[in-house]
Amino acid sequence: MGTNTNKNAFASKMGAILAAAGSAVGLGNVWRFPTETGLNGGAAFILIYVLFMLLLGVPVMISEFVIGRYSQKSVSESFYSMSGGKNAWRYMGLIPMFSSFLVLSYYAVVAGWTLEYAFQAAVNGFAGKEVTQYAVDFVNFSSNPVQPLIWMGLILAITCVIVALGVQKGIERGSKIMMPVLFVFLVILAVCSLSLPNSSQGLMFLLKPDFSKVTAQTVLSAMGQAFFSLSVGLCCLCTYACYFRKDVNLVKDATSVASIDTLVALCSGFIIFPAVYSIQGLQPDAGPSLVFITLPSVFQQVFGDMPVLAYGFSLMFYLLLVVAALTSSISMLEMGTAYFQEKFHVSRVKCAIGVTCVCFVLGTACSLSFGDWSYVKVFGMGFFDLFDYLVAKFIMPIGGLLATFFVGWVVDEQVLKSELTNGGTVSQPLYRVIRLLVRYLTPICILLIFFSELGFF
Ligand code: PFF
Repeated sequence: MGTNTNKNAFASKMGAILAAAGSAVGLGNVWRFPTETGLNGGAAFILIYVLFMLLLGVPVMISEFVIGRYSQKSVSESFYSMSGGKNAWRYMGLIPMFSSFLVLSYYAVVAGWTLEYAFQAAVNGFAGKEVTQYAVDFVNFSSNPVQPLIWMGLILAITCVIVALGVQKGIERGSKIMMPVLFVFLVILAVCSLSLPNSSQGLMFLLKPDFSKVTAQTVLSAMGQAFFSLSVGLCCLCTYACYFRKDVNLVKDATSVASIDTLVALCSGFIIFPAVYSIQGLQPDAGPSLVFITLPSVFQQVFGDMPVLAYGFSLMFYLLLVVAALTSSISMLEMGTAYFQEKFHVSRVKCAIGVTCVCFVLGTACSLSFGDWSYVKVFGMGFFDLFDYLVAKFIMPIGGLLATFFVGWVVDEQVLKSELTNGGTVSQPLYRVIRLLVRYLTPICILLIFFSELGFF
């Protein structure tokens, strides 16, 4: 078994689950999931998404856990050492590592928006506006060349401080505080939203599938959403798994994280769609602006007679988004930080600051693509859309393919068996099923979806 060169480790099993769940639960659940669900027709999309979580997401997560905990090394070095010293695998491992820069860059832009909206909610900035004003305000804010950059810088700075503090004092402690806060906010908001007039229509949208809306694009979107939401495919969870103790049950952990993640996504749906349907004329397919344009107006209109509730609901919702964004951005930054720390023997603080600065520069390009640089298009997309498209629809599924192929075919079978049974100390009744998924089903499914998307059949 690999030697533990990294003295850092999550102190408790709970800390390990909460940190991994913190990485998974994020804007992907509260912002991207409702957006994709709204654009892809509701319940039918959700069913396909849940199927992909089980068939693709969980096996990839287990593979990443196995790689990380066994090797106790940062991503590309784990591929290198576990492949028996093959340089090709080292370079392959660099792809997800550098992709974590891309994802953090555009993620930090939206995380910055959530901070601005939490601030606006705190100073009661949404009150007393005309309905059309929310859209104007959002466009003015997101296209402003300076303001979003300040908020993005602040989010990146907070993330950097937590990562620089280290695994136990920063990541584990942060997750243990932030995750329970997030769950409490979610439940309160969902209960309030479900008690609104017409909320049943929102529920129908989430629960009654309309398969006529399903296209090849829906399937690719559902796969992208499953990978993005579970944080798998960028090997981000390999890095966290390095810090898992040897007695953590990897299969249980992966299923707990996937269940928490799905519950949070559904809960966000239960907050957002009933609220949207409670007002005549609003549509669930408003796209990415749903959370930033539609919802502030919904909160004010629904609680028109009770300004205190409108204030509380808005503030709680945007704080929820901030917390969710932070627990995920920490895991993205940790990946690059751990790599550079191990590779160049530089202090954790310096590595965290270095990666943060690179992401700030890339994030600036993404933020400006909503305003001054909106004319710059690559493959017809601005930087923000391009990064999201590349990461969620290509790099993450390809990374998932790599991780499962690696564990299923390149690494000795005993490694998988030993990691899943904690060195033979616990039984693993699902071992054969997991092996089948990791070796055949998961990689084949990912390939089939890709080839069909590329028009091969
Ligand atoms: N899973 C996170 C979310 O749902 O917001 C996003 C994410 C985190 C993607 C970490 C990729 C990653 F490596």
